[in-house]
Amino acid sequence: MQKRTLSDLYNNWDQLVENATSWEGRTLKQAFEKDANRSARYTVSATGLELDFSKNHIDETTLSLLLDVAKQADLKGAIKRLMRGDHVNNTEDRPALHSALRYAGKASSPEEKAVESTLNKMAGLIESVHSGEWKGYKGDKITDVVNIGIGGSDLGPRMVTKALTPFHTGHVNVHFVANIDGAEIHDLTQTLNADTTLFLVASKSFSTLETLENSLTARRWMLENGCAENELRHHFVAISSKVDKAVEFGIDADNVYPLWDWVGGRYSLWSAIGMPIAFAVGMDNFRKLLSGANAMDTHFAEAPPEKNIPVLMALIVFWYSNFMDTDTQAILPYAYHLQLLPAYLQQLEMESNGKSVTKEGVRVDYQTGSIVWGTEGTNGQHSFHQLLHQGTTTMPIDFIATLQAHHPIDHQHKYLFANCVAQSQALMTGRDLATTETELRAAGVSESEITTLAEHKVHPGNRPSNTILMDKLTPETLGALVAAYEHKVYTLGTLWNINSYDQWGVELGKLLGTHIATAIDTTDIPGDWDSSTQTLVRKFNEANKSI
Ligand code: F6P
Repeated sequence: MQKRTLSDLYNNWDQLVENATSWEGRTLKQAFEKDANRSARYTVSATGLELDFSKNHIDETTLSLLLDVAKQADLKGAIKRLMRGDHVNNTEDRPALHSALRYAGKASSPEEKAVESTLNKMAGLIESVHSGEWKGYKGDKITDVVNIGIGGSDLGPRMVTKALTPFHTGHVNVHFVANIDGAEIHDLTQTLNADTTLFLVASKSFSTLETLENSLTARRWMLENGCAENELRHHFVAISSKVDKAVEFGIDADNVYPLWDWVGGRYSLWSAIGMPIAFAVGMDNFRKLLSGANAMDTHFAEAPPEKNIPVLMALIVFWYSNFMDTDTQAILPYAYHLQLLPAYLQQLEMESNGKSVTKEGVRVDYQTGSIVWGTEGTNGQHSFHQLLHQGTTTMPIDFIATLQAHHPIDHQHKYLFANCVAQSQALMTGRDLATTETELRAAGVSESEITTLAEHKVHPGNRPSNTILMDKLTPETLGALVAAYEHKVYTLGTLWNINSYDQWGVELGKLLGTHIATAIDTTDIPGDWDSSTQTLVRKFNEANKSI
């Protein structure tokens, strides 16, 4: 089978390999010692964000070779094609116009006009619920809004709603239900009052099992709690690109907010899918989120590649993934409110770039999307950072920090920030054997103990990281940050020549899930299934026989 290699695509491949090899004999610490200007040289700022990528295995040659790769990939042309609505999602033959969801200025294209009228309608709904004009079936004000959705119809709104906690208006409590596991909606509804609850059914396709089943459960719960069928319209709103399906499902046509085929699910938090965010922080703050993202769109489209935040973020991951054999990326926000960012980025990066054929359908022989993981600092320090410091594997890391907090506990914010910087410093400088032995000796440790202990205390160092800094986490800076990651993903997809906007890999599991559910319902287990699957289904049927 013919496979596509990256050296077929880029004519400076050998030089890149040579530069990567040269880093085997150099350290980041030495790079800083040699160049007093290194931090300033490798820091770029735009849209309220600062990317310090100086603690990476990059020198002027590396950077110019990587920028040449971007040129050979026609990244500039690719950005133009993305923003003007070309069908960059070639396997589904459609654009990926999420940037149109946050355009600034007067709506001119049909897409922008559709966005504006939906945002205006959404503003009316938010205002009417917040003011108490919108009432539940008994005439009470809505106090709780529950978003029912999964994947892109959950992770983005959930992450942003949490991230903007300091901006919550307090008009309503916002909750999220995603999982098919009935435990989630069951537990939540135990805490709610049906008359004062509004459900948002968020599904681009309006055919997702989890969302439909949870919505039916919510509907049953409303009816069981005294709401008449003809009053359900006070309690259900839908957001979907399949408006007819939502209406068919029983949602009042007036309560259905459109989404469009030209927005990918995982890129949709900026649309009416972001309604839970607007319920939590108000429409003005939602628009500020859009304007932050719009500023990043402009930066991505206009800044030269060497000063372009998403482009540099992508080149760094490309460098480690394809020349230094790393296969994971850690996202470590030192901001409690960004605790859901790693989970959100898992879908954004892994569903977008977890591909192994080129856009033309040729299998690749190079690494594409890597595993994204992480948690908020400092929790990770007391958990997996041991492996970051002394494990046998290394990976690119994004530390994300804010200079100012929203709370008044200044000394804790100081410790948070200090820990963030200390982690990137410790990972980079490490502590060698000689220093470790000297320190142990100074602490009065005996020579025989030093022999046993010293190697355990050595930190190899030379481990890379980015630091993304912002003054404060606000709707604008958050919008810019999330859009930067979106564009980083597209840049990587362009460099790898893969389609970042489809997700065929999720289909087989869904299909087999329905076959297995049927086998459970009918107790008819196909004899040609593997013995493991047959046994597992049989065990489930056995355990649930009497129910
Ligand atoms: O199964 C994956 C997926 O299609 C995601 O791409 C999407 O964000 C999620 O399911 C939810 O889809 P929908 O919004 O159509 O319910």
